[in-house]
Amino acid sequence: MHCVRTVTDHLYWVGANDHRLHLFENIHPIPRGVSYNAYLLLDEKSVLFDTVDWSACRQLLENIAYLLDGKPLDYLVINHMEPDHGASIEEILLRYPQVKIISTEKAFLLMRQFGFHVDGHECIEVKEGDTYTFGAHTVTFVAAPMVHWPEAMVTFDVTNGALFSADAFGSFIALDGKLFADEVNFDRDWIDEARRYLTNIVGKYGPHIQLLLKKAGGILDQIKFICPLHGPVWRKDFLYFIDKYDKWSRYEPEVKGVMLAYASMYGNTEAAAQALAAKLCERGVTDVALYDVSNTHVSYLISEAFKYSHIVLASVTYNLGIYPVMHNLLMDMKALNLQNRTFALIENGSWACKSGDLMQKFIDEELKNMTVLNERLTLASSLHESKAAELDALADAIVESMK
Ligand code: FEO
Repeated sequence: MHCVRTVTDHLYWVGANDHRLHLFENIHPIPRGVSYNAYLLLDEKSVLFDTVDWSACRQLLENIAYLLDGKPLDYLVINHMEPDHGASIEEILLRYPQVKIISTEKAFLLMRQFGFHVDGHECIEVKEGDTYTFGAHTVTFVAAPMVHWPEAMVTFDVTNGALFSADAFGSFIALDGKLFADEVNFDRDWIDEARRYLTNIVGKYGPHIQLLLKKAGGILDQIKFICPLHGPVWRKDFLYFIDKYDKWSRYEPEVKGVMLAYASMYGNTEAAAQALAAKLCERGVTDVALYDVSNTHVSYLISEAFKYSHIVLASVTYNLGIYPVMHNLLMDMKALNLQNRTFALIENGSWACKSGDLMQKFIDEELKNMTVLNERLTLASSLHESKAAELDALADAIVESMK
């Protein structure tokens, strides 16, 4: 049975939702699922924009067949070749042997690398600024390298204002019947998963996102729909989401607040993090979020690190090093290029306490443009009343640095 939604006249969402996949890219949990979006334009020629993950191929095929109603598929535009969008290309080629493929040089290279038999089809290689007309609709192609792979492009339909934005402006969470961002309470229910998607998947490539945002800014008055490859389609309030993307890709905090991430073996380091959180709230900090790194998947921690201006790391010493899960968080911050934050440190060690110095060294040497507050809370096994003044001093220093 088909399951399609109308985006606007002659343009349809023909993607699918996935609640079966546990780990996106086999690494990021997606408890609320994900959508793989593909779009079909029915003009004088029919045009499919991208395909879907292999697991959703059958739904895509049913959707296309329903809308084509016996007519051929004329064109397949591939904006992004990662297999969560490109895996069904081969099946489309088999079902529609006359289909012409439009994509970038690098994408065609990847199609061959993935073993797709594109060479029996007309392959139309496009680059930045090229245009193509399918009847009433003319599209222009815009290079979007490293958003999120090097072959990526976005396609803008100058006739109806639809921007097929590939991975940009996407989000985790299955659509489950909804299509447009204004059909959900995005700021309440979706923004955290949109941030977790962007920062973990494309976070490393902030400067490339900035380039794309600049290009989009040049045609902002012409954009009527933003059609990403995951998550809802945007048809209003573009600036709300563009502003989020701008902040995330410039590595600027979204909110002035404190994320506390603790690594605790027996609860003593956790108790210190809790005590600091209470002190911060007592001082009027209204946005404080506390996480146990051992039971919070790192993708959530990264998302929160991109959100908050201040990060407190509280770690026990383990094998004379940083607790492994905390070290992993730091490594991910480095990999994803997180910058421009203020850190405060809590360290613990029953003997040879090392974690504070090691976290400081990592932040100073491996991360960019970070500030580490001088005040540090050092515990020998547990937080004693004798440390009350140090705890207050740390809370005061954080609050002062937020001014
Ligand atoms: Fe959803 Fe980079 O693919």
